[in-house]
Amino acid sequence: MDDHLDEVKAAEEMDRLITDLRHHAELYYNRDAPEISDAEYDRRFQRLVALEQRFPALVREGSPTHEVGAPIAGTPFAKVRHAVPMLSLDNAFSADDVQEFFARIRRFLGLDAETPIPVVAEPKIDGLSASLRYEKGRFVLGATRGDGYEGEDITRNLALLDDIPKTLRGDAPEVLEIRGEVYMSRAEFARLNETRVEAGEAGFANPRNAAAGSVRQLDPEVTRRRPLHFFAYASGEIQGADGRPWDTQEGFLAALKAWGFAVNPLARKCETVEEVLAFYDEMADRRATLDYDIDGIVYKVDSIAWQERLGFVSRAPRWAIAQKFPAEQAKTVLEKIGISVGRTGALTPFAILTPVTVGGVVVSRATLHNEDEIRRKDIREGDTVIVQRAGDVIPQVVGADKDKRPKDAVEFVFPDHCPVCGSLAVREPGEAVRRCTGGLICDAQAVERLRHFVSRDAFDIEGLGEKQVEAFWRDELIRGPADIFTLKARNDRNEIDLAGREGWGATSAGKLFQAIDARRNIALDRFIFALGIRRVGQATARLLAHHYGTLEALREAVLAARDQESDAYRNLVDIDGVGPKVAADLIGFFAEAHNQEVLEALQKELKVQPFERPVGGGESPVAGKTVVFTGTLERMTRNEAKAWAESRGAKVAGSVSAKTDYVVAGSSAGSKLTKARELGVEVLDEDAWLKLIGRG
Ligand code: IVH
Repeated sequence: MDDHLDEVKAAEEMDRLITDLRHHAELYYNRDAPEISDAEYDRRFQRLVALEQRFPALVREGSPTHEVGAPIAGTPFAKVRHAVPMLSLDNAFSADDVQEFFARIRRFLGLDAETPIPVVAEPKIDGLSASLRYEKGRFVLGATRGDGYEGEDITRNLALLDDIPKTLRGDAPEVLEIRGEVYMSRAEFARLNETRVEAGEAGFANPRNAAAGSVRQLDPEVTRRRPLHFFAYASGEIQGADGRPWDTQEGFLAALKAWGFAVNPLARKCETVEEVLAFYDEMADRRATLDYDIDGIVYKVDSIAWQERLGFVSRAPRWAIAQKFPAEQAKTVLEKIGISVGRTGALTPFAILTPVTVGGVVVSRATLHNEDEIRRKDIREGDTVIVQRAGDVIPQVVGADKDKRPKDAVEFVFPDHCPVCGSLAVREPGEAVRRCTGGLICDAQAVERLRHFVSRDAFDIEGLGEKQVEAFWRDELIRGPADIFTLKARNDRNEIDLAGREGWGATSAGKLFQAIDARRNIALDRFIFALGIRRVGQATARLLAHHYGTLEALREAVLAARDQESDAYRNLVDIDGVGPKVAADLIGFFAEAHNQEVLEALQKELKVQPFERPVGGGESPVAGKTVVFTGTLERMTRNEAKAWAESRGAKVAGSVSAKTDYVVAGSSAGSKLTKARELGVEVLDEDAWLKLIGRG
């Protein structure tokens, strides 16, 4: 990790990661429509884990690293609390990781090097997990995993699966919860998609999404027609058995079979790490021939007594690990390179491919990342390329087979004009991305900005999601953010007819108008974030709101900051966490005439609330003072100190100037302290500072 990361930057990045991970978890778990690969999700998740380890003081309550899966969106299924949480598994990506898993268990249990650690290796089924509750041997409740603690009641749908026994055979504990994976076979998935496409419906991206979509159908009749299966592999709550009738994972799998569950026939007990790794290789080879998707192998310590001793670490058991398979690949022809344009104008290249099956899924588009990647891999239109997907939905182009290159294939020239609006597209020095300069005259940016404007952390208007706003944009009901707030007036004047739109009625239109009205009062930080200014994420929006207090003050300050010699500019870049790049983006945004019009139009329609200072800063001795922190504080983290100062009305700056009122110097303070002394700024040590703010 880069060592120059300070707490403010880390907090900003963590904020961004949390928003991002929540968004993608929501797409994955609740909408069955993931947009990024599992590998990419894992990468971002691990980055958050690393940041949280390095900055423990910044760990947020409710961080995705403390959760499993996604929180449940407003769904029509009843919520069910899991008696025993449904956790997830840690991942191993290499043989070394697997060795380390065994070493860790050995250390934890205090076993010597000779003691074998038998495990059961089971294919990791790529479906969705479900929990089945049996009372007195009868199936009474079936639930999705949800966020791991609370899922949805899908009993009626699960009861339709042949693999799920409605009554258990033989003796079973009084209460028995069985967990396993609901999945769809590849052949059945292909058949289902064929009929859907014939009927003009959208096909599912892969068998996992098809299974997830099928099991969460409101109408069980739809589920009944979907070919779903279930493999059982774990237990939840158990009551009333005199001890468990099994003392190993192997014994548990045998019990599952005896009760009438389907258990994966490939599961195998392994005595040594070598056996485990050999099993993995064997399965990696057989994987393509299986009729269902598996995305790795799960190893579980066989001894239940050891499992109980090993227990759990936050979201995963210490006694199990999943070793993932590498991505699946296939070759096909890259017919054309397309360019898409995002909210901030970023031009992203993608490959249009001759459709090819990669690991059971037909792929016709893949990402090419950016301009440099195309050049580095020397990928050309007409090339035969290697495409890869890793249980994911956005496949990627790995490289080109140069031997198969057509003679007339020419190097790809990345466009220097926006393919959507024709404006110049420029690449700033040090940037990987080329951007359209068209701003809001660019349709692509306009629609993406609108989607951002209504997103969850921005205006979050109920009933006006990204999909609706896009449709409204397409039909020219909404062209800019302010149009959202004039919808009702225009509807009243009969200029538009919202209730008459397909899928809408008087009730839903009325509800939407109410939801929009509810947002006519908006917090300043949300408003700033909603504007979608480049580099201004939630954390920066909050900093700006905090610093300037009102939208007017912010706008005036940023306009004045156009002059880089001005106090306004210095003041802006001095906000810890802002800096020259963010300042340039803000100045650019507020200077643009079109954005000014948008702001004015919005201000006619809504009230942006001044930022509320958490504690009455008025009486505080530091209210209105500018404070700079330097060096290491002993009694609180820098961020905590900043939050305290700001909550008492102080402005916290990143560098020392004649305007600085106090410099708070912790241990090993350096140049800022020297500068304070030179300028005669009052310097406080940590104790004096704490006394001043009333925490001494
Ligand atoms: S055991 C406490 N066994 O993988 C242990 N999970 O990444 C719970 N999965 O949520 C999980 N096949 O949806 C286990 N043979 C298997 C599995 C399996 C697939 C899924 C399951 C779990 C996820 C964790």
